[in-house]
Amino acid sequence: MLEVKNVSKTFTSGLIRKKKIQAVKNVSFSLESGRTLGIMGNSGCGKTTLSRIILHLIEPDEGQIFINEKRVSGFGKKMEKKDHRKVQMVFQHPGSALDPSKKIQYSLMEPMEIQKLFSEEERRERIEKLLKLTGISPNLLKRYPHEISGGEAQRLVICRSLVLEPQILILDEPTSMLDVSVQASILNLLKELQKELDLSYLFISHDLDVLSWFSDDIAVMKQGEFLEIGKKDSVLLRPQKEYTKQLIQAFSH
Ligand SMILES: Nc1ncnc2c1ncn2[C@@H]1O[C@H](COP(=O)(O)OP(=O)(O)OP(=O)(O)O)[C@@H](O)[C@H]1O
Ligand SMILES: [Mg+2]
Repeated sequence: MLEVKNVSKTFTSGLIRKKKIQAVKNVSFSLESGRTLGIMGNSGCGKTTLSRIILHLIEPDEGQIFINEKRVSGFGKKMEKKDHRKVQMVFQHPGSALDPSKKIQYSLMEPMEIQKLFSEEERRERIEKLLKLTGISPNLLKRYPHEISGGEAQRLVICRSLVLEPQILILDEPTSMLDVSVQASILNLLKELQKELDLSYLFISHDLDVLSWFSDDIAVMKQGEFLEIGKKDSVLLRPQKEYTKQLIQAFSH
């Protein structure tokens, strides 16, 4: 369903002496619906850049991306609005995804308003259904982001990412800013939503236990490249590359 083929991206920085950073190098993988690919890699290895390419926030220098066998990226091709909706992202900082000056209700309605989707009535019904699914009290709708807890904020961000009916969610360290006690409930919620809505997840985490529990497959990323990819048990229990062994060690505590 999601297919990434030979995607690369180089950034150039510095005005006089140009410095090139190859953030993503020839990455290929495919992700079926209802499944999770965990991405494991050190800081700066290119995880967020890869996510931003899949979200179509940045154009890759090379390679193509297909969703349901339809090409949605590559060679400067503009993504259609309806393809854009199919991939959504849940960021590490729930706060940054909610407008601090607007009530929660506004932030949940906004994506549908921007996309001019559904009638007023349908929008309200959709929000009501998603609040139930994500375990959020409708009382929160009238509050501002500073009037809710971190765990509630992350539930709301997940709820908001679902209003446009995506098929793929990119989860970039979705629980790393939360209390340990809340982390488990958010991860369980994400698992339930995946089953209920047949979502595909791309899951980025620095926590080996969480990666292992949450993922079906795991990709090991090093300096922009996918060094190793496979079923989680084969990657984590029988790693082929020395680097994977080192990373497993480093991520274990
Ligand atoms: N817009 C940009 N311009 C120039 N360089 C960038 C840009 N975005 C990212 N980079 C560089 O590309 C590399 C990959 O960054 P990226 O944010 O994808 O890493 P990451 O794996 O998500 O790291 P972390 O785990 O710390 O979030 C880094 O060297 C980063 O400095
Ligand atoms: Mg990142």
